[in-house]
Amino acid sequence: MNFSDSEIVASVMTEDNYSTTTNQLEADVIFLNTCSIRDNAEQRVLNRLKQLQPLRKKNPGLIIGVLGCMAERMKSALLEEAELGMRVDMVVGPDSYRDLPQLMLDAESGHKAINIILSSEETYADITPVRFASNGVSAFISIMRGCENFCSYCVVPFTRGKERSRDPQTIYGEALQLFESGYREITLLGQNVNSYHWEAADDSHTTFPKLLEKIAAISPLLRVRFATSHPKDLSDELISAIAQYPNICKAIHLPIQSGSTSVLSRMNRKYTADSYMNRVEAIRKAIPDCAISTDIITGFCGETDQEFSETLSVMEEARFDFAFMFKYSEREGTLAAKKLTDDIPDEVKADRLQQVIRLQQKLSLASNKRDVGSLAEVLIEGHSKRSKLHVSGRSSHNKVVVFPDNGYKPGQYAMVKITSCTAATLIGEAIEVK
Ligand code: 5AD
Ligand code: SF4
Repeated sequence: MNFSDSEIVASVMTEDNYSTTTNQLEADVIFLNTCSIRDNAEQRVLNRLKQLQPLRKKNPGLIIGVLGCMAERMKSALLEEAELGMRVDMVVGPDSYRDLPQLMLDAESGHKAINIILSSEETYADITPVRFASNGVSAFISIMRGCENFCSYCVVPFTRGKERSRDPQTIYGEALQLFESGYREITLLGQNVNSYHWEAADDSHTTFPKLLEKIAAISPLLRVRFATSHPKDLSDELISAIAQYPNICKAIHLPIQSGSTSVLSRMNRKYTADSYMNRVEAIRKAIPDCAISTDIITGFCGETDQEFSETLSVMEEARFDFAFMFKYSEREGTLAAKKLTDDIPDEVKADRLQQVIRLQQKLSLASNKRDVGSLAEVLIEGHSKRSKLHVSGRSSHNKVVVFPDNGYKPGQYAMVKITSCTAATLIGEAIEVK
């Protein structure tokens, strides 16, 4: 989501005659696009801001700005030099990027600039993102913004505002343009893509499965992915769209957060462990080899040993292929911070996190071992990080596949025979490349 926002910011700034650089010594403006989701994300931003300050010595006109969720959450506190112990020149919330050129004028004239107004309409629909850090093969398209689910632990509804969907014509146009310029994989992004909906002036209605099909129909050579799905809204219609189109990737990210129904209720997730498993079964029935990944939080308010053990059991039952795992981090202003007590000691949160990480490693390795001996269609992204003699790409199941290079180019599809694996990577040999 943040990556996609940075591309919008780059576009707004480029229109205003700025250009991007990868060398911070050369920059006149440095923006940090920030996330507030966990406290450690915010601490990292504060450290980075501190590290950037000495650059002002060489370039006294340097402007440093904080963009995104942290700007929204901390507001003018970020501009309080004495309290923060350093200088920040601009604070710009996630719905104010169009205002950047104006805010730059203020900052350049030595004034601190701030705009943190949230909008109920802004989707940046007409802005063509500048793909400045792209591999030229895969790109993200933001299809909606904001969230109104108010999971009790989550700061997003407060930092990114009301849920709003983007005009499907503009999404289609962006996807088509990407395909025509050589991109072969598009990930449609939203906090909860399943609640995407758009009513056109002629009363026609676009739901997420319809949007997904429309993008998949651009070309069989264009892969389509999406993230994230809320388990309460994952419809049978969406599952059958994924099953029907070979180029809609067979990988669903379905954050469970906890395997305990009582914890889920305190989290305000609006599903039970059983109804989650019902969705997993519906996916497996329609798409037997579909990869399912998830997010898990350990040590949420009041989580007992029994409730935690239910998370471990459900992980085994669901056989997740991959997971993002976090310790609960209380965020000011959220429902949990207001109504529940953050009563699980940090050592317990950390110990439970280690247990889920260990279990997930076992599940990921088992999932990869099941693939050894099979064929995977891999979209080549570039050289492997570890060896210039190998290329790396992803399978439809979103697994990283590494195999010997034979003069291949990013954007080509390879049929790869999987010969071995680790918990994180499949290793194989190309038998056909298109
Ligand atoms: N503490 C820990 N993890 C969190 N997440 C969101 N809010 C918090 C929090 N306060 C995790 C959830 C979500 C992912 C993007 O971040 O698992 O799905
Ligand atoms: Fe946060 Fe829940 Fe919205 Fe996801 S669905 S962004 S976890 S409030």
